[in-house]
Amino acid sequence: MSKEQNQSDFSEMSRRGFLKGISVSGVTTGLLSESSVHDAQAAQKGLKGPEAVPITLSINGDTHRVKVEPRVTLLDLLRNHLDITGAKKVCDRATCGACTVLLDGDPVYACSILAVEAEGRAITTVESLGSPEALSEVQASFVERDAQQCGFCTPGFVMAATAFSRQHPNATVDEVREGLGGNLCRCGTYAGMMLAVSDASQKKGGSHG
Ligand code: FES
Ligand code: FES
Repeated sequence: MSKEQNQSDFSEMSRRGFLKGISVSGVTTGLLSESSVHDAQAAQKGLKGPEAVPITLSINGDTHRVKVEPRVTLLDLLRNHLDITGAKKVCDRATCGACTVLLDGDPVYACSILAVEAEGRAITTVESLGSPEALSEVQASFVERDAQQCGFCTPGFVMAATAFSRQHPNATVDEVREGLGGNLCRCGTYAGMMLAVSDASQKKGGSHG
């Protein structure tokens, strides 16, 4: 069977399946626009878009209801739609870690997750960690160890370090180096950062050695 024949059979089957679905669901209008046909077909397949769709996200404990095209990444949604700009856009291709946020407590690259995929998950960004007056343990360790220069990579490192120190109490500097291998710093402040994260991890484990 030729490719064209296959495609024609497939679209005929899809059309028949779609029309059958309409009659079963009791839709009686005789005038279906192209977009309503597309929407119904997409709904049958569990697809969303390409138009903006409503989603509800839990970010730092707050509920945000937004309308967004399914192609939009979590990072772009945070920065461009909600003005939550702590997560930084650097490589935009899952390489540098500047966009790191937590999803249900685990670090993820926000540039590589669609906003629609984050529905129903707890999203945590650096904005929720602490304030200048009351820094989180990891943030305070970064300050104590002078672990930043330009600071552009710092929010991503802090988020990755927050998850790491919770999950790896009493980690050594070598373990921190391996655990934070997904984050890059162009200023090269790794030495201070590794010490800072190890300090925070030791505090989590109750050992201050
Ligand atoms: S901006 Fe997401 S990993 Fe670099
Ligand atoms: S402190 Fe400048 S990129 Fe890391």
